[in-house]
Amino acid sequence: MNILLTGGLGFIGSHTAAVLAGEGHEVVIIDNLCNSQRQTLGSLEMIAGKKFPFYEGDVRDLTLVKSILQDHQIECVIHFAGLKSVAESGVDPLKYFDNNVGGSITLMEAMQAANVKKLIFSSSATVYGIPQYLPYDEEHPLSPMNVYGRTKLQVEEILQDLSRSDPDWSIVCLRYFNPIGAHESGLIGELPQGIPNNLMPYICQVVSGKLPHLNVFGDDYDTKDGTGERDYIHVMDLAEGHAAALAFTRDHKGWEAINLGTGIPYSVYDLINAFEKSAKQAIPKMVKERRSGDLPIYFAKVEKAKNLLNWEAKRDLQLMCDSSWKYQQGAKR
Ligand code: NAD
Ligand code: UD1
Repeated sequence: MNILLTGGLGFIGSHTAAVLAGEGHEVVIIDNLCNSQRQTLGSLEMIAGKKFPFYEGDVRDLTLVKSILQDHQIECVIHFAGLKSVAESGVDPLKYFDNNVGGSITLMEAMQAANVKKLIFSSSATVYGIPQYLPYDEEHPLSPMNVYGRTKLQVEEILQDLSRSDPDWSIVCLRYFNPIGAHESGLIGELPQGIPNNLMPYICQVVSGKLPHLNVFGDDYDTKDGTGERDYIHVMDLAEGHAAALAFTRDHKGWEAINLGTGIPYSVYDLINAFEKSAKQAIPKMVKERRSGDLPIYFAKVEKAKNLLNWEAKRDLQLMCDSSWKYQQGAKR
């Protein structure tokens, strides 16, 4: 199929581009490089052994997006382009609503005008909010606790309304849990700008000597070892989940939300222990206050993805840490 990846040079988009190209799809990428680098395109081309048509541009540019859809006879769009910092979204909510919600609306308009009606959207487990029960299934009430999460929920709702208005649409909202890890080649991975907010990139920078120690945000939660537990998923499993969703859209009409996780929660200490094995060195750490807005534990119910997409995560925590470490050792920044 001819597929457009918005935000395709970012962390998840680039791994998905590698998987889709490997399956023989024609992948076109638009990215404004606000949180990625052009050099990722070269790395991707090395992995795939072919060139990708690339547009440095913004999904809010209706004319540009429409012309890409038409010129490349795009059949499906995977919409990764978005801003993802929970902290920044609270400080600058309009920037987040403009980019994440406004950008998605412009994309939908362009798709409607070009008669492209298959869309896979990057949503997040953050749409669920405080767990009323665990694991979160897709029917769990939606009540995001931050602006970033509200932008994701709003886009999901707009997409649902769009599919109700026109039954030709096939829309899949993938609710990602905590993606970590990197491509097995070590050529692409997660490249956060500045000091990372998330656990895995922070650990990578501590182990490579860029940061002095890891802050463990709370060891007094009601969890197995007192630290926060999350459903970490290897980014290559996540990328393969997109390939499965793409296959699903061939015969599907309507709107679906589907969790992509492993269903297994790991603690901060589990991740540290696994990473220490990968890097063969101890990770200096200091226990700090809980981080405001953090939940003690959440993880996915994964049956819907198994049933509808015939997909499940295969890679374990050690492989997530090994691949992150391999990428970190070669990463230039
Ligand atoms: P990322 O920042 O690495 O990738 C997003 C890409 O989109 C970047 O390359 C950025 O330059 C581009 N972009 C942003 N706004 C754009 C715009 N208006 N026009 C064109 N390009 C634009 O993030 P990621 O981790 O790869 O996440 C991809 C998507 O998945 C995001 O929508 C994110 O909110 C969502 N998501 C991510 C996570 C996670 O933990 N990484 C979890 C849940 C959901
Ligand atoms: C965060 C976002 C979430 C987003 C996800 C993407 C918040 C409140 N939530 O989730 O919306 O979808 O990233 O992956 O920001 N931790 C430390 N030290 C650190 C960093 C993290 O101990 O330096 C702990 C956290 O307290 C948490 C766990 O590690 O228990 C995972 O944190 P993180 O990687 O930031 O992910 P989430 O908080 O799950």
